[in-house]
Formats: sequence, C-alpha cells, structure tokens
Amino acid sequence: MTIEEAREKLSECGQEEALRYVDELSEEEKAALLDQIAAMDFSMIHYVHDREALKERGKISPLTAMELDEIDAKKEEFKRTGLAAIRAGKVAAVLLAGGMGTRLGSDNPKCMYDIGETRHVYIMQRLIENAMDVVREADGKFFPFYIMTSDKNHEATVNFMKEHDYFGYDPSMITFFRQDMAPAVDYNGKLYLESKSRIASSPNGNGGWFSSMAKAGLVDDLHRRGVEWLNCFAVDNVLQRICDPVFVGATIESGCASGAKVVRKAAPDEKVGCMCLEDGKPSIIEYYDMTQELMDAKNEKGDPAYNFGVILNYLFREKDLEQIVDEKLTLHIVEKKIPYMDEHGNLVKPDKPNGYKFEQLILDMIHELNTCLPFEVRREYEFAPIKNKTGVDSVDSAKQLCRENGIEL
Ligand code: UTP
Repeated sequence: MTIEEAREKLSECGQEEALRYVDELSEEEKAALLDQIAAMDFSMIHYVHDREALKERGKISPLTAMELDEIDAKKEEFKRTGLAAIRAGKVAAVLLAGGMGTRLGSDNPKCMYDIGETRHVYIMQRLIENAMDVVREADGKFFPFYIMTSDKNHEATVNFMKEHDYFGYDPSMITFFRQDMAPAVDYNGKLYLESKSRIASSPNGNGGWFSSMAKAGLVDDLHRRGVEWLNCFAVDNVLQRICDPVFVGATIESGCASGAKVVRKAAPDEKVGCMCLEDGKPSIIEYYDMTQELMDAKNEKGDPAYNFGVILNYLFREKDLEQIVDEKLTLHIVEKKIPYMDEHGNLVKPDKPNGYKFEQLILDMIHELNTCLPFEVRREYEFAPIKNKTGVDSVDSAKQLCRENGIEL
C-alpha cells in the first residue's frame, strides 16, 4: 500500500491524523505502518457515534438443556459415537488463545501462566494433559489441534510450545494461526497511536476465530483432513475437557449444528453468558444484559428459567460455519484501558478506561447457526477459569479446584 492509498483509506473514516508522524519515520517504520493500515478494517469505528444502528436484541425466552441425569443414562452410547468420530479424524480442537488476559495482568501469554507449587503446571500443560486423556481413549489417535494467537502473543506462544516439546502432543497435529486485530479509539472515536509508526490495536474478540482460520487457508486443511466438527474452547479453564467424546457423541446424535457445554448457574446473577432462545433460535445472553425479570423467571418445575451458563466450550459442525462465515456477527463496543502515545511521544498506560475496543464474540455464533444442544456438565469437574489473580475465577480458586480433582500442583 502506498502513502496515498493509506491516506485515502483513513480519510474515508475521518482518521487521516493517524499518519501525522509519517514524515519522521524511517523507511522500515513507514512500511510497517502501511502494512498495518492495509490489513486493518476501520469500518466499525463509526458505530461509536451510531450505536442504535447496532443489532438490537430479539425476544428472549427459555431454552432447556440436556441435563446430567439424561446424559448419565446415555453416557456409554454417546461416548461410543464420539470416540468413533475422533478415531475417524472427524473432530478437531481449536484453542482460543488470542486474548490479552488484562485482568490476570501477566506480561506473558495466559497459556504460559504457571499454577504449579512443587512443580511447573502451566495452563497450556493442563490443557494438553486433558487432551491426552482423549487421545489415549481413542487408542492413540491424535486429533488436529489448532491454536489461535494474536499479533501480541504469537511468537511467545509458539516458542513456549516448542521449548516444552508441545507437552507431549504430536507436533505434526498442531497448527497455529493468528486472529485479526481491531483498532482502538478514544471516546470521540479517534484512533489512538501506540507509537509514531503503530496504530493502537487489540485482538478483535474471540468471535473472529473461524474467519481468521479461513483467511489463514485452514479451511482447506480441515477439508483435506476430513474434519467435520470443531471443538472450540477458552485457554483459561484449567479443567477444560477437550474433544470430550460424550459431548461430541451427544451433539452428533442430537442432529444439531452446534453444542454448548453449560453449567447450572451458581446464582441468578452469576457472571456467565446464559443459554436462551432469541426470536425462537438458540442464543446466549451476556450476564450484563440479564434483566431482573429474566433472573427471577421460573420454569414449570419452579427452577430458574434461565439456569444454564456457558463455559466457553462449544462444538460446531464445520460445514455450517462455512455458511455463516460472511455473516456479520454482532459488534460489541467495550470500554477498556488503552495504552497510547501522548503528544510528547511518551507511552502512557492508563489506570482507568480511556476509550473503546471492538470485539466479536464466539457466543454470538450460536445464534447464527440455527440449532444448538446445551449440554450440562458438572462445574466442579470441568470449570476452573482463571480470569483474575485472586477472588472469583482466580488463580486461587482454580488451584483449589485442581486439588479437589486430584491434580498435583
Ligand atoms: P476473555 O473474555 O476472558 O478475555 O477471553 P481475555 O482477553 O483473555 O482476558 P481479559 O478480559 O483481558 O482479562 C475468553 C477466551 O477468549 C480468548 C481468550 O484467550 C480466552 O481463551 N480470546 C479473547 C481470544 O482468543 N481473542 C480475543 O480477541 C479475545
């Protein structure tokens, strides 16, 4: 991209000022900035001033889940179906590890975080250990394992995996890909600069994973390998079950295009996305959109009607994803602390939010696909997220849950 082209692209969205230092840059810095501008989509910025134009929520109603007693009764059958699909190479894992982990506040990617006490127990190691349980159950059949990183943590993640010999996973079955980045803006919708040659940006949310896979040419790879189902999950749950054969089997047998692992909510206001129907289609309502009325609603058994929270572990039928890949997912405009360069050229790390980031969320993909099986799991065995250093969903709570599950730390 030339400077003229960059200027034109930026002026279309009123952001020419991002080029204000261009004359001071070396050839190399100039090229890096132009590359960044060429790759970046700025078309969402105007929504900062035009939020009414963002998708409105439809009518919310309850959606039942497949509950534990039903799953336990059919466990062996589901497992047989799931393992057959895994052995046939039809199931792949997709680890979403492109997040910034700002709440945890570690300088390294979250997957490198060590929760060990007498030995190293890195988050990534825990995930691979759990994946290996399934490999063993599938008679040694490794499933393809895709890892989504971002520009901010790609090299560190790749090097870490190499240094640790992939924690025993077959390296030929591991593929890294980067997610897209989105610009970060101030409250007036103006781009922040991180340096004279770099626009402030952040990963564009975990909803962009499939389009980023497609951009990286990996849909062909999925076809070549014969993958029909993708199990997507968060990096930060150290009890995460990966390609769980029972879940895979239940979703395949349900005939649904997707499945979502859910837990019974600990309290109506627990901060987890909640399964529901939206305009008659499966959907997930974020905790901050839950009204008091929804929290108080009861079903015919007298239980809370919106009682199942998602744990960021989904199964998607690959061919259905290809059909929705061009659909625009809901855009979430999120207030965040954005490091930026001030007028004196110093990098400022704000201690309170100073602008917006733009994100798409994987939970909105459930609504785009028409059918979903909410599949209940026991939270004490499967849900130990690390979001914070201490308190709720923290290193401390996750360690405690690991100990209760007999994992040596
Ligand atoms: P979170 O919503 O917890 O975000 O991500 P985060 O960036 O990791 O942490 P905070 O909010 O800054 O503290 C849930 C999952 O989605 C992935 C994360 O890596 C995590 O596995 N994710 C999130 C991405 O892969 N890309 C993103 O852009 C955002």
